[in-house]
Amino acid sequence: MCGIVGFIGKGNAVAAVLDGLETLEYRGYDSAGTAFFSNGGIEVVKTKGRVADLREKLPEGISSELAIGHTRWATHGAPNDVNAHPHASADGSIVLVHNGIIDNFAELRLSLGDCKFKSETDSEVVAHLIASVYTGNLLAAVEAVLPRLDGTYALCVMSKDNPERMVCARKGSPLAIGVADEAIVVGSDAVPILPHTNKVVFLDDGQVAVCDKTGLTVRENGKVIENNITEIDWSAEAAQKGGYKHFMLKEIYEQPQGLTDLVHQRILLPKNGEPVLNMSGIDIDDEYFRGVSRIVLVAQGTAYHAGMVGRNLIERTAVIPSYAEYAADFHYRDPILDPSVLVIAITQSGETMDTLQAVRSAREKGCKVISVVNTVGSTIARESDGVFYMHCGPEIGVASTKAFTAMIASLYILSLHMAQVRGTIDEHELRRRSQDLLQVGPRVEAVLATANYIRQIAMRYVNAGNFLFLGRGTGWPLAMEGALKLKEVSYIHAEGYDAAEMKHGPIALIDENMPCLFIALKGRRYDKVISNIQEVKARGGKVIAIASHDDDAIHELADDVIYIRAESGIMNSIVCAVPLQLLAYYIADTRGCDVDKPKNLAKSVTVE
Ligand code: AGP
Repeated sequence: MCGIVGFIGKGNAVAAVLDGLETLEYRGYDSAGTAFFSNGGIEVVKTKGRVADLREKLPEGISSELAIGHTRWATHGAPNDVNAHPHASADGSIVLVHNGIIDNFAELRLSLGDCKFKSETDSEVVAHLIASVYTGNLLAAVEAVLPRLDGTYALCVMSKDNPERMVCARKGSPLAIGVADEAIVVGSDAVPILPHTNKVVFLDDGQVAVCDKTGLTVRENGKVIENNITEIDWSAEAAQKGGYKHFMLKEIYEQPQGLTDLVHQRILLPKNGEPVLNMSGIDIDDEYFRGVSRIVLVAQGTAYHAGMVGRNLIERTAVIPSYAEYAADFHYRDPILDPSVLVIAITQSGETMDTLQAVRSAREKGCKVISVVNTVGSTIARESDGVFYMHCGPEIGVASTKAFTAMIASLYILSLHMAQVRGTIDEHELRRRSQDLLQVGPRVEAVLATANYIRQIAMRYVNAGNFLFLGRGTGWPLAMEGALKLKEVSYIHAEGYDAAEMKHGPIALIDENMPCLFIALKGRRYDKVISNIQEVKARGGKVIAIASHDDDAIHELADDVIYIRAESGIMNSIVCAVPLQLLAYYIADTRGCDVDKPKNLAKSVTVE
């Protein structure tokens, strides 16, 4: 949930750390700090607030070749200067930054006797522990302490005696290490590393990294292992805003290209003959898929809504009973599982702890796990039997947009593969559905071309106090997603419902102050949705409808209509997502909300 950065080598270490922290603020930003070697010792500067506030506190013209830094999302101890990282041991010999939660920190704190603690954090305990066994060899001291830590950690540790070395370790929290020509750069993910190098080592749980000015050595169980270098194809610029006001808007506009790229990477459509599906990353034999009795899709938040759409996709194509579940609930109840049940984990970050726990419990019960992930080298990706990478580029805005539509497209391709293997669709249908997918990018582009019109509609609802989002069939998860988008960026209370539920409760809320957005595309449930809209209108409610391009009646009923090019088939779910994203964005931006870093939220929820 926090972001950590470390730099050692030729260059301005503090500047590199501060710039890197700014790219990680989407992971948490309630306080920040840095520690660096200067004048023969370690200086620590930290503050409540953001990296910009930290910059204000730092003296000018610092020159250092070793620095670590941290941007925090509080889990233990309120956000303030004292609880901000880095944390130091009492004698200042050890200074570290930490991302994760040390479950047994209280007993460890007790074991340190009359040690004087400055903060309420679990992380400070680790600094004191390492100092308590430190006799000048930083690596030995770190490796001696790690086995005593229960819980999760990504650590960057430095010692006052050794300006030539930084030691890092990971268990349960991500840590990436960039190997540049004359420096080693550490980050909670690859984004802060990219301005320096695209050669990245993703540490695995239990691994320790020794970062010297001369290079990187990775150790496992006390032994040196080979550096497993991944070349990241994201440019540093790709992780910047590219001229848009916010990352969220940039990422909404990246969807047409991202979806087109994804489909082209995965579906080869020869002029004659059956389409070829590229299932790289899913190295699981066809026989297994033929034996799958049931599929459970596990995720949280937006990813869960994609899973709800995925359930419909899979049942309609591969004809396998499928269920979308919140990962946290799946993990903590006793789901009935056996090796014939396939679990699909859906996650943009690949680090959501709730989803990771579900993955682990599924595998403990003998299930194969396929994960649909965006972040290369993430924990969930590396703990799955198969990984379907979405490759939609870094998603920096806390509100997930392009990842949502990429998840749906990915799940569709995966379901087509299973359908092809199980023989539940023929070549003709596979080609038709593949062409459906190839059309999605241009159809999203067409919606974006109406962004100004959507913005005008949004302006009428900027001061709404509440909102209902309603849809049927696949419109229901879209309604849930639209409500989540609006509430998390604009702070307007919004609820998503299956429109059939209206008469079972929500209709009691309808009056002129309760605007309702309906997903009202033509299809087998259209008449029922129209009845719901009439019920709302009869009670004075305002209605926004997302409607099919050829619907020439709905404008007489709804107050505002957003038309999309609706084709038959389930890819409408992707196209319908875009007006929902834009409405939330424009309302939030007009309300002056911090669209990319909404209050109380973080991009990757790596705690339960
Ligand atoms: C989505 O806009 C939210 N930021 C949040 O619900 C998010 O989808 C959820 O935390 C899951 O994240 P993941 O996809 O990285 O697992």
